[in-house]
Amino acid sequence: MREMIEQVLLDEKQIAERISDIGKKISQDYQGKDLLLIGVLKGAFIFLADLVRAIDLPIALDFVAVSSYGFSTETTGVVRIIKDVDYPVTGKHVLLVEDIVDSGLTLRYLAQVLAEQKPASLRICALLDKPERRKVSLDVDYVGFSIPNEFVVGYGLDYNGQYRNLPFVGALKHSIYSKSEA
Ligand code: IMP
Ligand code: MG
Repeated sequence: MREMIEQVLLDEKQIAERISDIGKKISQDYQGKDLLLIGVLKGAFIFLADLVRAIDLPIALDFVAVSSYGFSTETTGVVRIIKDVDYPVTGKHVLLVEDIVDSGLTLRYLAQVLAEQKPASLRICALLDKPERRKVSLDVDYVGFSIPNEFVVGYGLDYNGQYRNLPFVGALKHSIYSKSEA
C-alpha cells in the first residue's frame, strides 16, 4: 500500500512519542477525577486505542459514530449521529477523542449535543488539526499535530473507507482521488 502514498507526514515513532506526552498531560489534568473518554468512530479508533494506554488513571470509555464524508474529501457540513453514547454523560468529566479537526463542524456539533446533557466538564482531544480549514470556532484542548491543508490517510483515517490500517499518517497520491471522483 505504500505506493499509494505521496509523502509520509508522521511516522510511527513520532506518533507514539506525541501520544505518550498527551497521555501524561491528560493523566495530570484529570488526577482524582472520573474521566470518560468518548471516541468518534471510525477514524479515532487507533488513536484512542493508543491514547488510553498512555493514560495512567482509571477511565471509562464510550463511542459515538457520525455520518462520514462518503466518497468525497470535503465535508457537507451536515452532521448526523449514527451511534449515540450508551449512557448519558451528565455529571461526568468528558473528553471527546477525534482523529482530525478540519472544518470543526463535526466536533462543534457533537460538543453541543453532549453539553445539553450537562457533563461536569467537556474537553476535546484530536490527533491532527488542520487550522487553515476551520469554518467554525472550536477550542481543541489537546492536539497531537497541526498539519497543512492536505488530505491525509492512515493511523485510523480513511479515504473512501480505505487506508485506515496504514501505521503512519501520509498524504495520498493525487491520482487516487482523481480516479474515484472523476
Ligand atoms: P470536520 O467536521 O470538517 O472538522 O471534519 C472532521 C472529519 O472529517 C474527521 O473526523 C475525519 O473523519 C474527516 N476528515 C477531515 N480531514 C480529513 C483528512 O485529511 N483525511 C481523512 N479524513 C478527514
Ligand atoms: Mg472522523
